[in-house]
Amino acid sequence: MDKLKIGIVGCGAIGSSLARVIVKDFSRQARLSALFDIDKEKARRLSQKLFRTPAVAADNLKQLLRGSGLIIEAASAKVSWDIAKRALTMGRDVMIMSVGGVAIRLAQLTALAENKRAKVYIPSGALCGIDGLKAANMGRIRKVTLTTVKNPASFKGVKYIEAKGINLSKVKKDTVLFFGKAAEAVKYFPQNINVAAVLSLAGVGVNKTRVRIIASPKVTRNIHEVRVESIAGNITTRTENILHPDNPKTSYLAVLSAVAMLKQILGPVKIGT
Ligand SMILES: NC(=O)c1ccc[n+]([C@@H]2O[C@H](COP(=O)([O-])OP(=O)(O)OC[C@H]3O[C@@H](n4cnc5c(N)ncnc54)[C@H](O)[C@@H]3O)[C@@H](O)[C@H]2O)c1
Repeated sequence: MDKLKIGIVGCGAIGSSLARVIVKDFSRQARLSALFDIDKEKARRLSQKLFRTPAVAADNLKQLLRGSGLIIEAASAKVSWDIAKRALTMGRDVMIMSVGGVAIRLAQLTALAENKRAKVYIPSGALCGIDGLKAANMGRIRKVTLTTVKNPASFKGVKYIEAKGINLSKVKKDTVLFFGKAAEAVKYFPQNINVAAVLSLAGVGVNKTRVRIIASPKVTRNIHEVRVESIAGNITTRTENILHPDNPKTSYLAVLSAVAMLKQILGPVKIGT
């Protein structure tokens, strides 16, 4: 059987981890065909580290798309929709990590993929409960709420909080910073964008999914609680994330979630909804 050729766009914390896993653990089923980063030196260095040659560092996105069957986007929400669109138009499968950039594009992604018989993969990321939410969504869902709890320091520089006049250094007890639609949460809290986007895509969309964001001086980890109320019953999950050593904005579980999805794509057995 031919090995799946995988190209990675974005050689930061997630892209580098996935590249290493593909070369080290999935070499029987897959081949790392190309690496591309807007900072070309990053792609060259990563290629050099993995193969002792810059052989798989691509000069541009087009070159990467041409030589790969599965594209992993791990770059930025500003470009994830464009990358997915270009990959799918060429009939390539695509795994999207910057989910915020496609939060309102489910119908378009579906149409493009169907047209070329390609696949779109969106890992659960730093969030647990997507399996149950997807199953419940086959019946009827009444309500989906995401509650994110982070240390006040994690919200430094968020313009929405500055505009509300909240002084983060004076937050001494749990304080609700935001409660509203996921559509608004992803606008005001860009660092929360991926969890809210995945939850919305898997469930009832950005306008019906509710998001509550709490600053808590008691916590050091990023905590995501999901509550689903449905005719099949209620689901509550709580994920306490350890941050990735290479990028403190990214949860380690998000990287592992992409690895687990890759394992499903490459392996014969699919477990979970
Ligand atoms: N789905 C999830 O649960 C989840 C979790 C964490 C992060 N993310 C998202 O995944 C993406 C990657 O995360 P990370 O921690 O690896 O970030 P990172 O900052 O460590 O790496 C991103 C890399 O992409 C490169 N890049 C930026 N724009 C690019 C472009 N237009 N073309 C090519 N390369 C480009 C950067 O130079 C950088 O090397 C981010 O968008 C992040 O928000 C998703």
